[in-house]
Amino acid sequence: MRFKEKSVIVTGGASGIGRAIAEQFAQEGATVVVADINRESTQDAVEAISARGGRALPVNVDVSNPKSVQEMVDTTVDANGRLDIIVNSAAVPSVSKIIDISFETWNKVININLTGTFLCAQAAARCMVDAGSGRIINLASVNGQRAITGRGAYTAAKGGVIMLTRIMAAELGPENITVNAIAPGPVDTAMVEEMHTAATREAWYRALPIKRYAKPQEVADATLFLASDEARYITGHVLNVDGGFDATGLLFEL
Ligand SMILES: NC(=O)c1ccc[n+]([C@@H]2O[C@H](COP(=O)([O-])OP(=O)(O)OC[C@H]3O[C@@H](n4cnc5c(N)ncnc54)[C@H](O)[C@@H]3O)[C@@H](O)[C@H]2O)c1
Repeated sequence: MRFKEKSVIVTGGASGIGRAIAEQFAQEGATVVVADINRESTQDAVEAISARGGRALPVNVDVSNPKSVQEMVDTTVDANGRLDIIVNSAAVPSVSKIIDISFETWNKVININLTGTFLCAQAAARCMVDAGSGRIINLASVNGQRAITGRGAYTAAKGGVIMLTRIMAAELGPENITVNAIAPGPVDTAMVEEMHTAATREAWYRALPIKRYAKPQEVADATLFLASDEARYITGHVLNVDGGFDATGLLFEL
């Protein structure tokens, strides 16, 4: 029970990686706010956690809306007395070459994936500064470090999430708040179902030393490590959970 009595928010907690993170925190004793824009799947995630004896609360949030984000943090503090950990997993996929992407799509992806992460991390940090401690973990991506064709706005947003993580770590270290990012490679979730064609999958299998996609649970394991006491001196770090993708170049049989 590493997270007994801890108050945790997981944005995007209704699906995929966020849901696996919310479930794992609850399993380890935390009280989890499952915060998502999709009411139905949020309710479903909360019921699944409760059915296994965990403690979870549904909160409907649009991470790109400052008022909605503040309400999410206020509801959490009202319900649980404080906020110890926030994991920012909410995001939308986007497949388009830079040359083709519309202004509207660019703005939507940046607003949710980058500005949304900023708004949630900022609102949580203000609360944590008052409390004197906290953990912030942002879901970045290998797309934030390496340029993968056809992921224009998504890649730019994730690159922004990585630098947001570093500047927040620099500014919040003296406040006893750590800020880190997780950079997954491909993970089998609804988002990937939508983004990856058979050709995309084939390209990934060629590029991955560990020749498979990750399971959401494997990303959750790394996230809980960064939130744990064992990681208390780690901040401003980007932890790749990518099957070795970032470490390698050309892969071929000799
Ligand atoms: N799946 C992958 O291969 C992969 C790889 C690298 C990084 N990531 C990142 O991990 C995170 C989770 O991805 P996933 O694959 O679990 O995605 P997912 O689509 O399964 O889940 C994303 C969740 O975010 C919610 N959401 C979307 N817009 C929102 C908004 N405006 N406000 C609140 N909630 C909103 C959705 O309703 C959904 O429940 C994302 O940040 C994603 O970019 C995923």
